[in-house]
Amino acid sequence: MLRSLVAAPLLLLALVGYVRAVTVYGPAGAQKPSGTASSSGSGPISTGTLENTQWISSLNAYNDVNLQAPALPNPMPSTSFTIGVANGAAGMSGLSIPQKGNFYGFSIEMSVVEQVLGVNASFIQVPFLNLLATLADRGGSVRIRVGGNTQEAAALVDNLPNNAMIAKDKPIAGGSSRTAQTPTLQYTDELLYLLSNISSLVNAKWYLGIPFNDTTHLRLQIAEAADSILGDNVLGYQVGNEPDLYASTHERRPADYDPQDYFDEFGIMVNGIHDDKKITRTGNLVAPSLQGTWSPEDLWSTGYLDAYGSSINILAMEHYPDQNCAAEFPDGGFGPIKNPQDVFPNYLTHASGQNLVKPYLNTAGIAQQLGKEFMMFETNTASCGGFPGVSDSFASALWAVDYGLQMAYSNFTGALLHVGGQNVSYNPFTPPPTNLSLFEKWTIGPIMYSTLFVAEALGTTNTSRVVDLFANSANEFTPAYAIYEHDTLSRIALINFMQEQGGAGAYSATISVGGEAFGESNSVPSQVKVKYLLAPSVSEKEQITWANQTFGGRFQVDGRLSGQEVIQTIKCDQSANTCVIPVPAPGAALVFVSNEAQASSDPKATQTYSTTSVTNVIQTLTIEPSVLSHSNGHSGNFPLSGTSKGGANAALCSHHIDYSLASLSIFIGFFFAFFR
Ligand SMILES: *[C@@H]1O[C@H](CO)[C@@H](O)[C@H](O)[C@H]1NC(C)=O
Ligand SMILES: *[C@@H]1O[C@H](CO)[C@@H](O)[C@H](O)[C@H]1NC(C)=O
Ligand SMILES: *[C@@H]1O[C@H](CO)[C@@H](O)[C@H](O)[C@H]1NC(C)=O
Ligand SMILES: *[C@@H]1O[C@H](CO)[C@@H](O)[C@H](O)[C@H]1NC(C)=O
Ligand SMILES: *[C@@H]1O[C@H](CO)[C@@H](O)[C@H](O)[C@H]1NC(C)=O
Ligand SMILES: *[C@@H]1O[C@H](CO)[C@@H](O)[C@H](O)[C@H]1NC(C)=O
Ligand SMILES: *[C@@H]1O[C@H](CO)[C@@H](O)[C@H](O)[C@H]1NC(C)=O
Ligand SMILES: *[C@@H]1O[C@H](CO)[C@@H](O)[C@H](O)[C@H]1NC(C)=O
Repeated sequence: MLRSLVAAPLLLLALVGYVRAVTVYGPAGAQKPSGTASSSGSGPISTGTLENTQWISSLNAYNDVNLQAPALPNPMPSTSFTIGVANGAAGMSGLSIPQKGNFYGFSIEMSVVEQVLGVNASFIQVPFLNLLATLADRGGSVRIRVGGNTQEAAALVDNLPNNAMIAKDKPIAGGSSRTAQTPTLQYTDELLYLLSNISSLVNAKWYLGIPFNDTTHLRLQIAEAADSILGDNVLGYQVGNEPDLYASTHERRPADYDPQDYFDEFGIMVNGIHDDKKITRTGNLVAPSLQGTWSPEDLWSTGYLDAYGSSINILAMEHYPDQNCAAEFPDGGFGPIKNPQDVFPNYLTHASGQNLVKPYLNTAGIAQQLGKEFMMFETNTASCGGFPGVSDSFASALWAVDYGLQMAYSNFTGALLHVGGQNVSYNPFTPPPTNLSLFEKWTIGPIMYSTLFVAEALGTTNTSRVVDLFANSANEFTPAYAIYEHDTLSRIALINFMQEQGGAGAYSATISVGGEAFGESNSVPSQVKVKYLLAPSVSEKEQITWANQTFGGRFQVDGRLSGQEVIQTIKCDQSANTCVIPVPAPGAALVFVSNEAQASSDPKATQTYSTTSVTNVIQTLTIEPSVLSHSNGHSGNFPLSGTSKGGANAALCSHHIDYSLASLSIFIGFFFAFFR
């Protein structure tokens, strides 16, 4: 007991020490200047082939806003507290329904598919594949929605000029003058082959949207085609995206459009889908995808669930905790532009996730009774592009860990983090803003790390039941969750939203498992394994590590984690039935408690979760960073001729790029061998 208490602060110091020393691998961008100077794009950021750097730094995805960390809370929460949990699920109350490791997925705006997923079915963005493989390794699979506002008026056409997969057309007349008009999209079935080919390589499953812009002329072609092209890889079709905004925000319906009107229109869709014999899968609709202007209960009271429940597999909502619309649409009547610094503290508290789920707890219960999934189908830090400095800071990563686990605890069955274009600050990942560097130089958003944390917290047994421990007298800055698998404690997640100041802020949680309080025997193991999600500060944008690994800094990401994975082993005091876990400020710790969980924390064990031999090919593309750093001179060894014409545009300007070219050519080579 005494020993672990003394050891804890030392370990903590050691941890904080090494965090500060972390360097993001790669030739450039390891250290960015702090302060809010708006960079012209010169300086330490490698701009390589990225021409027109001024334009680039004006895009929200690459903003240089660095915020001040909030002051420490007053009063300070206790920084040394005990968490007592039962070893068996029966000893705990309030456990969630069983959850899966693929809880967090992505929602990708249809208009950015070419930049994010690929130009066509044979030209897939390798960083995207790597990112999906990294997450699927941990959560078993990845669920991705391709849709958004653009799905409503999108049209599947036979072919497009220049053999393109997607073309943007001018917006349909009418609609809102307050907000920008979304261009309409035309696309070919190549898009569906692209999704199918991605699913052949990594365990990715898809949600698509059936257009709802015009229920007098149904356009169901996407479902007809996707059922035949994607088969089991399409999980469902969303019908209607935020119908409660059709009138108010989009002005695509009469001003008095209400839940009953939507009920009626939805019925037309359901009948049309039912009568369409080319749609072979039924009962897999995703709805109603309300944004929050109508409460779920407003709609349920129309008898919606009785009328259409058998057609719907997933009850869905779409909600963001805040909006930054005045910044995007200064004349849109959204009031004064919000200052990111003012909203920053709102993301550094357990209260955010709690408030987000509150309006949905009733519906989560209804979904359970009806045997349906309940998903947060589109979410992120703030709508209308997020808040620069908030949505792309480590604070957002901690926020998303807490929010994800809070949703899991609250019986949501999944949540999709939205990916917008180049001018939003909340993307989990952003391809480069030019078509010259298709497979290199991506930029990762901090919430991407949260998806890894949550996937590992839930694991791959599909039995993970989550409970909010209301730790430290339910303090909002130090939340904790326990995860039970097969009804036994497997992991504990600890979050510290505070920023260390004057040596204060870090905490240590003394975990005790079982014991008299639970009518169980003392159950702490002799040791636990711990992985940390860390950054030097809550406002940090790039130097973020998960178990000491990083995706890399701005314009440095190829979708693979690099660096030495570090899993801490912390000895427990079995006679006292305690394990003392230090949690730096800021930071989050995932404690692997059960033997099974400890075994699965090992990355080698994690990799065996790959579900198909095809996925393993992606694994073999994972090249150790030590190899990377000695890879100069390989650039001539991986010619792309005859494999991908687009690759010819890639500038071979740094060793960093060479391996992506290598990956791409290996991949395409494999791909051709496999499919032709
Ligand atoms: C993959 O893409 C190619 C090229 O478009 C296509 O011919 C093939 O059918 C696709 N494979 C699958 C499994 O969809
Ligand atoms: C719906 O979208 C289609 C395809 O873009 C378009 O042709 C049609 O005019 C739209 N209907 C309405 C009512 O806006
Ligand atoms: C990006 O968004 C900002 C608002 O946050 C806007 O002022 C700017 O014009 C946008 N830039 C582009 C290129 O759309
Ligand atoms: C989640 O569902 C379980 C099982 O029905 C229930 O016991 C629990 O109270 C629910 N959680 C919340 C936060 O409503
Ligand atoms: C890249 O974009 C430029 C300007 O938009 C365009 O002229 C060029 O053809 C594009 N190149 C490729 C390979 O698509
Ligand atoms: C978990 O569920 C998925 C389907 O979502 C299934 O493919 C997988 O085999 C399940 N895993 C286990 C261990 O049952
Ligand atoms: C963390 O990773 C870095 C970069 O790979 C490495 O230099 C460092 O030794 C690692 N830290 C530990 C504690 O292994
Ligand atoms: C796919 O896109 C690449 C890159 O633009 C192009 O070279 C290739 O011809 C396209 N393939 C098909 C089948 O359209």
